[in-house]
Amino acid sequence: MTAPHEERETGAPQSTPPSDVAVRLNGVTRRYGRRGEELVALDDVDLTVHRGDIFGVIGHSGAGKSTLIRMVNALESPSAGTVHVDGVDLASLSTSALRAARKHTAMIFQQFQLLETVTVLDNVAMPLRLDGIARHEARARATEALEFVGLGARLASYPGQLSGGQKQRVGIARAIVRNPAVLLCDEATSALDPSTTLQIIDLLRRVNREYGTTILVVTHEMDVIKDLCHSVAVMEGGRIVEQGTVMDLFVQPQTAIAQAFVGTVIPHELPERVRRAVGGHPLWRLRFLDDEVTSPIVGALISEFGLQVNILHADMTDIQDRTVGHMIIQVAGDDAQRASAYGYLGSRVVSLEEVVL
Ligand SMILES: Nc1ncnc2c1ncn2[C@@H]1O[C@H](COP(=O)(O)OP(=O)(O)OP(=O)(O)O)[C@@H](O)[C@H]1O
Ligand SMILES: [Mg+2]
Repeated sequence: MTAPHEERETGAPQSTPPSDVAVRLNGVTRRYGRRGEELVALDDVDLTVHRGDIFGVIGHSGAGKSTLIRMVNALESPSAGTVHVDGVDLASLSTSALRAARKHTAMIFQQFQLLETVTVLDNVAMPLRLDGIARHEARARATEALEFVGLGARLASYPGQLSGGQKQRVGIARAIVRNPAVLLCDEATSALDPSTTLQIIDLLRRVNREYGTTILVVTHEMDVIKDLCHSVAVMEGGRIVEQGTVMDLFVQPQTAIAQAFVGTVIPHELPERVRRAVGGHPLWRLRFLDDEVTSPIVGALISEFGLQVNILHADMTDIQDRTVGHMIIQVAGDDAQRASAYGYLGSRVVSLEEVVL
């Protein structure tokens, strides 16, 4: 397979010079329905996805995730605001240029969307055939893409003969066969079991690493964000309420909804019975990163500050190649000692806060 951006169709006016930005949404609003009974699916969304990034958008059902994806693949246009893909303002394009620009993106779906009546090989060759590429060449490139996703031995199978994970591999092969600049994934693993999900995530990371393909993922599963993405935006009610690196989100989630999503991977609330039982002394929440998880700070609170420490919750989670630790402790002792211990801890861990029950 050729590198991304080669064999790119010309004809799309380049409104901006090449930059490191693959996708940019500026003030994008999308309304549905007539005035009076209007629904705002996207509300003034600003989003920048850099080339080579794996960017995740997480939100509950109805948050506007699929609508956002449809803005990027130009299946729909915004009611207000602008969408740039690969440096091109989609609104500036004629119909034929828009058709060409759509080839800069490719998509994989929750329900795979394969043609059941043709073979795996012809499913993957189809986008190339629609581009007018000769059958022989289309099949050669499709074979290469299928080998890349580990299905070189299943070229003659029909989709009905494959497992869900294998079908999604075909979906990925079909998406990458045209060397898109941006791969869009709408809940691409939501129909799969956890171990198959991990295999598909591994494959998407390989696509990103080996072809440099920018990947934009929308999902309601925080595990997908944890295992796949580098950057993340949290959506609620059509708005982006928080965004940053995945590590930032896990270590210092700002909004209640981001905290709840992080909590689906790293439990951050005490069980109700424990919350009722603990009282009196303050509770502190500590978050650690990498080497901090192994430093003996609880011991220091006891030996150096003379405090009594009760560990109510502690865990560690690997997030890609880093480790995030989380602990809730109850601290009893002299007020002044406690205040200086709080200052000490603040300088030793990545985040520290008092838990309000
Ligand atoms: N074509 C449409 N006409 C009218 N309303 C729509 C249309 N498409 C989406 N909506 C509405 O816009 C809102 C956002 O929908 P969207 O499909 O983007 O959500 P989502 O985050 O993808 O949800 P899910 O996780 O369930 O897929 C919803 O309230 C939905 O009903
Ligand atoms: Mg959706």
